[in-house]
Amino acid sequence: MAAGWMDRSQRTDDLARMRVAYPAAALEEADLAGTWHEQLAGWLGDALAAGLPEPNAMVLATADAGGLPSSRTVLAKGLDPRGVVFYTNFTSAKMRDLDATAFAAATFPWIALHRQVHLRGPVGVITPEESATYWKTRPRGAQLGAWASAQSAVVPDRRALDVALEQATARFADVEQVPLPPHWGGVRISPVSVEFWQGRPNRMHDRLRYRLAEDGDWAVQRLAP
Ligand SMILES: Cc1cc2nc3c(=O)[nH]c(=O)nc-3n(C[C@H](O)[C@H](O)[C@H](O)COP(=O)(O)O)c2cc1C
Repeated sequence: MAAGWMDRSQRTDDLARMRVAYPAAALEEADLAGTWHEQLAGWLGDALAAGLPEPNAMVLATADAGGLPSSRTVLAKGLDPRGVVFYTNFTSAKMRDLDATAFAAATFPWIALHRQVHLRGPVGVITPEESATYWKTRPRGAQLGAWASAQSAVVPDRRALDVALEQATARFADVEQVPLPPHWGGVRISPVSVEFWQGRPNRMHDRLRYRLAEDGDWAVQRLAP
């Protein structure tokens, strides 16, 4: 363990006293875009304009076959009426969960804007053609890393990862375009529920949720904070 963790941890003694009053910004039904994806695109634009670090970062929640949940951050790289797409390694722990349940939830935590968006729904792997289009935009180093890392596997030490990257680098040294690995690609969450949360004074926050009904129509509901 690195020294100094105790000094730093003492600062968390103040957690219970941390409290932020949210400004009067409101989210009214009349403010909402006609569809969840236009509304999400608008709020992503606000997060980008506000200069938030990695505004497309979302916390992805999955559960394993026994119901044990996990969460981790991934980057949303696609948004359209079909859903939200992130890219990952198909051998990872999250993909084992998704293979078992076929459902996921994701939250964009835009704390600095007193906002969050929470969505949930079934997931599906996008086509290799779609993944390949995005793959080509990735820097070569990130492409080699995807070949080198068996994401979520236990490794003996850091050196093993460095060696794996050296091997991937050597393997594709003479190849201009590193190919899309068969174990890597995009996953789309096709939401059935997308909630937009705006912090308000006195903890009386605005929560507006687009919900997909059985008949295939979307309805907007207001939830108590
Ligand atoms: C800001 C940020 C962005 C990340 N983006 C991704 C991503 O787009 N895809 C991904 O597979 N992992 C991403 N990660 C790493 C994941 O959080 C996680 O460590 C990894 O996917 C393994 O998760 P798993 O073992 O639960 O499958 C990101 C981490 C951070 C902090």
